[in-house]
Amino acid sequence: MSFLFGKKNNQKPDPEHLPAHIGIIMDGNGRWAQKRGLPRTAGHAAGVKTFKNISLYAQEIGIRQITFYAFSTENWKRPKQEIDRIMQLLDQYIEEGLAEYAERKARIRFVGDLAPIPPKMAEKIRRLEALTKDYTGWTLNIALNYGGRAEIVNAAQKIAREAVEGTLAPEEISENTIASRLYYDDMSECDLIIRPSGEYRLSNFLLWQSAYSEFWFDKILWPDFKPEDLDRAICDFQKRQRRFGAI
Ligand code: FPP
Repeated sequence: MSFLFGKKNNQKPDPEHLPAHIGIIMDGNGRWAQKRGLPRTAGHAAGVKTFKNISLYAQEIGIRQITFYAFSTENWKRPKQEIDRIMQLLDQYIEEGLAEYAERKARIRFVGDLAPIPPKMAEKIRRLEALTKDYTGWTLNIALNYGGRAEIVNAAQKIAREAVEGTLAPEEISENTIASRLYYDDMSECDLIIRPSGEYRLSNFLLWQSAYSEFWFDKILWPDFKPEDLDRAICDFQKRQRRFGAI
């Protein structure tokens, strides 16, 4: 409709047809800060606020599982000062989140290889996961030192070990064998992947899980992303016809 041109419409998603699992690439923090003459790290701090707001809103509207890309296996290439600030923000968030998430009955999981994460922080992460593990009604996954390729390599190593031990024959290996050996076997499909900031890439996020994902891209920078933007993405998703290769 022409009167809506250039305006955002405030349509609400249909609660009966929500995507079961949403993945979000929180992109545009650096550009958001640079536009304001601030250091890039200020963009990450603003990005954390958006992350909190959007994760809580997703829970409110009934999204059962959401995965945020916080730090990729490639992000170690960034300047040390920026990496340290992102880790500090995460650490602070875990500290604050401990009680709040248990109260909200939210299951928190970290997805990725925690080996290079500072031991104290890794311990807090495990504590937060243990504290919330039974709240399976709503799951918040935080992808940390995550790479879709690394996840598939990890699954391949598990399978190879089982084959060597003689508990799995190569001809028995199916898609399900791989899916069940990913970091979490109950997040093997992602219905909707959202990437703000005007980039049209997957950047090694949920490679296996995105085989039949719907994608939603927008120019908005992550710190500016609002609940209405999540509504827009979900409403758009609800208009799509998913055929999964059939007709
Ligand atoms: C991408 O924007 C953002 C990241 C690589 C880091 C995102 C991390 C956070 C928001 C902090 C994580 C903390 C919690 C609590 C989840 P960019 O820096 O690539 O932006 P640009 O493309 O504009 O430079």
